[in-house]
Amino acid sequence: MRDKQRQILVTSALPYANGPIHIGHMVEYIQTDIWVRFQKMRGHQCVYICADDSHGTPIMLKAQEKGTSPETLIEQMKNEHERDFNDFAITFDNYHSTHSKENQSLANSIFKKLNEGGHITKRVIKQLYDPEKNMFLPDRFIRGECPKCHAVNQYGDNCEVCGATYAPTDLINPISAITGKKPIEKESEHYFFKLHDFEENLLKWTHEGHLQNEVTNKLDEWFEAGLQEWDISRDEPYFGFKIPGTTNKFFYVWLDAPIGYLASFKNFCEKEKLDFNHWCDPNSDIEMYHFIGKDIIYFHALFWPAILEGSNLKKPSAVYAHGFLTVEGQKMSKSRGTFITARSYLNHLNPEYLRYYIAAKLGPGIDDIDLNLDDFLKRVNSDLIGKVINIASRCAGFINKRFDGQLSPNNHDTNIQSEFANQSEQIENAYENREYARAMREIMTLADKANQYIDYHKPWIIAKQKNSDNELQSICTTGINLYRVLALYLKPVLPIIAKNTEEFLNIEPLNWKDAKTTLLDHKINKYSPLMTRIEKEKIKDMLVETKENDISKN
Ligand code: 2FM
Ligand code: ZN
Repeated sequence: MRDKQRQILVTSALPYANGPIHIGHMVEYIQTDIWVRFQKMRGHQCVYICADDSHGTPIMLKAQEKGTSPETLIEQMKNEHERDFNDFAITFDNYHSTHSKENQSLANSIFKKLNEGGHITKRVIKQLYDPEKNMFLPDRFIRGECPKCHAVNQYGDNCEVCGATYAPTDLINPISAITGKKPIEKESEHYFFKLHDFEENLLKWTHEGHLQNEVTNKLDEWFEAGLQEWDISRDEPYFGFKIPGTTNKFFYVWLDAPIGYLASFKNFCEKEKLDFNHWCDPNSDIEMYHFIGKDIIYFHALFWPAILEGSNLKKPSAVYAHGFLTVEGQKMSKSRGTFITARSYLNHLNPEYLRYYIAAKLGPGIDDIDLNLDDFLKRVNSDLIGKVINIASRCAGFINKRFDGQLSPNNHDTNIQSEFANQSEQIENAYENREYARAMREIMTLADKANQYIDYHKPWIIAKQKNSDNELQSICTTGINLYRVLALYLKPVLPIIAKNTEEFLNIEPLNWKDAKTTLLDHKINKYSPLMTRIEKEKIKDMLVETKENDISKN
């Protein structure tokens, strides 16, 4: 680990403004938030950026369905999303919207650069058009019979039954999912980004360690299949930014979405007086990381670096993809009642339970992770309550009652304290490399050791012996100090507990280097429980609420 202060820009994927945040999304925000908090604790300058992804046909149609304007809808959704993130202790440094002046101006200037570089081309294409709604239909808004296996009611781009991919114009008996009418074929001129202009550079970039190995392998397949030109324009009606120099063409939402990372960052730079151009300069030593789901790798590992290259902006230092969240071993589903929104979860359960559970399951790869509700309850109760919090509550009572909150000037066991401090580098490495499951295992091994230490010295027995004050005070002081290091190591995952621990211990916010220090001869505050057990009933209540929501919305 370098000691030099790093300057790091970190993003999570921008959630669409047409639906609520659900616990599947939370895997990514929790993963990123932990990483950012860890970097900040290490003393680095780390800026965590996000925004609502506010453009596109689904958002336009959703607003129409609700009888409101897209602007009003995206404003409401942004507020809801921000509230959910805040309540999960996801602390963005800036949360913006892709429908912003910064994004429009950046999208325009990037498009201009790409165009001047000869990377944009125009041609007329044929697409399905809804003659009643008077609009071209995105693939997802066309249903019909699969041309391969003849399954009915399949989407315009792929068949969920046989897995075939095809053009919407290949569907048999297509209908518009908006009006149910038979679409017609219509021509229109579109703008394309010439991705293959960047093929050589991309091939090199994707093998230079910016991606996980399994992602690089997937990309190799795509390179082999050949890089296609990317259609970056949409016809009106569309909710988005008009392409400069046209009257009725808009940037496709996926063009201005990643630019939205930079736009939100620019908005932050203006508020915080940071030099945006320096942070985007390809020659600076700024680091930029994108955390994303594995479904949007193509956009982030091919289109986005190519766009940045073509506009002479800094390319990502790395793109970190993760897998999906399954619930009880299956894809989240409204009909199964497992489509749990962030709000339904928060209405019944402590956000740090989920933060811990996800951390305990996350590795650096792209495997899916499963939320098994029995395992969730057992794991959180046994690790957090049974092991970690238990140490504080076992020792705090004696220090508060018998010593008026005063810790001993003597550490009863400096060996165990050093053992805890010496794990710092291991745990640091695990966080840095997104091996959170490993970090949690190592921390829980330490928690076991702290409990064994207390079990061995039995302060509750010593408390009853004569002339044992010094010994009792120093044993409990060691116990409190071991707990303090555990709370510190867990701080990226459990920031609320960490904050309450800092108040309880009457100390400044814990930083990574504090793992090597000991708190002696110091007055602590009264202890109040730092976390309570998960009750089975609360999980049931959350599932009932989820089911009710899904029924009322279907
Ligand atoms: O897949 C999604 O949910 C997109 N809204 C993610 C956009 S990420 C970035 F490119 F903006
Ligand atoms: Zn099929």
